[in-house]
Amino acid sequence: MSEDLRHVGAAVDRYLVEVLGTDDPDAQAASSGGAVAGMPAIEVSSPHGRLLELLVAMSGATRILEIGTLAGVSTIYLVRGAGPDGRVVTLELDQRHAEVAMANFEHAGIGQQVEIRVGPAVASLDALLAEEAPPFDFVFIDADKESNPTYLDRAVALSHPGTVIYVDNVVRDGKVAEEESTNPQIIGTRAMMDLITSDDRLSATAIQTLGSKGYDGFLLARVT
Ligand code: SAH
Ligand code: DHB
Ligand code: MG
Repeated sequence: MSEDLRHVGAAVDRYLVEVLGTDDPDAQAASSGGAVAGMPAIEVSSPHGRLLELLVAMSGATRILEIGTLAGVSTIYLVRGAGPDGRVVTLELDQRHAEVAMANFEHAGIGQQVEIRVGPAVASLDALLAEEAPPFDFVFIDADKESNPTYLDRAVALSHPGTVIYVDNVVRDGKVAEEESTNPQIIGTRAMMDLITSDDRLSATAIQTLGSKGYDGFLLARVT
């Protein structure tokens, strides 16, 4: 995409953050904590985080599953949307990320509302299934994109009718439309799309986005 459009996207995001006040001080502190710990700056932007918060609140979700914690920025918005009775189970591969995130949750005063499970997310998801964990109301998928088909499958298995599933980063600069892509992340996301199409329990759409993180998009599905 053109540099002009990228700059406009970033400038409009700066304007929207300011005019709508989407920044959350605790999410900002978590983001800084992640940066200080050397994590990549791939957390949700604040307008995007606010969207998660609104979707959770609108759907009345209180039991939330997140795949991919990083520093816990998106987790904080999910907890905000779920309110004081909300609980988030968040899955993270990297022990160090989990430690930074837990410190950020304590700092935000939401440590009691979040459970981090460390390890490969597929193993954690299979453990939740084996434990017969109660179904989740909202699932946010945002980890290694290669595994998106498995994450979608497990998310549906851990759902009830009405559960909302949100998958981040499904457009990736338009690369999702490349049929012959050899990029494992794109292959994973396209395979997840095909799974959704073949599953008549799911009603889904995907929306392209432009903002401070560039050109990307998200998928939203509802279990019927
Ligand atoms: N949701 C976060 C960003 C997550 S970045 C936010 O918006 O604030 C993706 C995270 O997924 C990274 O922390 C990475 O360590 C984690 N991850 C990568 N592969 C994983 C795997 N196989 N299982 C669990 N987590 C994984
Ligand atoms: C990447 C991952 C993300 O979850 C994201 O929101 C942006 C970028 C990445 O791996 O590059
Ligand atoms: Mg993401």
